[in-house]
Amino acid sequence: MTELGPVVWPPSSIRTERLVLRQSEAWDRAAFIELFASEEVHAYLGGPRPREELESAVPEVPGRRPGLFVVALNGAMIGTITLLDRRGAERPGHVRPEAGEAELGYMFLPEAWGRGYAAEACAAALDWFAGTFPGEPVVLCTQTGNNRSMSLAAKLGFTEVQRFEEWGAEQWFGVWSSDAPFG
Ligand SMILES: CC(C)(COP(=O)(O)OP(=O)(O)OC[C@H]1O[C@@H](n2cnc3c(N)ncnc32)[C@H](O)[C@@H]1OP(=O)(O)O)[C@@H](O)C(=O)NCCC(=O)NCCS
Repeated sequence: MTELGPVVWPPSSIRTERLVLRQSEAWDRAAFIELFASEEVHAYLGGPRPREELESAVPEVPGRRPGLFVVALNGAMIGTITLLDRRGAERPGHVRPEAGEAELGYMFLPEAWGRGYAAEACAAALDWFAGTFPGEPVVLCTQTGNNRSMSLAAKLGFTEVQRFEEWGAEQWFGVWSSDAPFG
């Protein structure tokens, strides 16, 4: 496993025009459960988890780990972004020989879809990443059937590296770099 290197976590909250990216708090717990229990959110992510199981399994303050940003609108969580998870060497899809690339992940509550919030929040998170890890690429893997995710990846400036089969579905694997023309 690749070390993250020096990173101050959590960073100060990141403000965008409409949103705040911050670490998770106890009052986000219900929104985390909504996110994990949602069929729509997990349509391309292996399916939701039963709500009763989540009620007992989700910790008092969920999602407190480096790289997990809660995205908040008027204080309330509408989604999460993960950005410091490292892509294991055993997985398909890499852009450097030593693997361990930073991987972007995003999940937003369905009522927040279709308003550009995911794009606004992910662009800010990538901007933070570029300032913290200059020149490091970020990778992203999403099912080709996940149209919303595919169009978000393109909007953020990810470019296709390869496609492959994993988890019984075709996956799109792309890369983003602050050095790239659209990064
Ligand atoms: C993937 C996901 C985050 C995309 O959310 P999204 O809301 O579609 O993404 P965006 O923020 O880019 O918003 C785009 C939409 O907002 C609209 N929009 C409205 N106001 C906007 C504004 N001010 N700025 C930009 N777009 C705006 C766009 O027209 C577009 O609408 P459309 O979907 O009708 O074409 C969301 O579908 C999701 O959470 N899916 C489940 C989790 C998942 O599959 N994650 C993939 C893991 S890799």
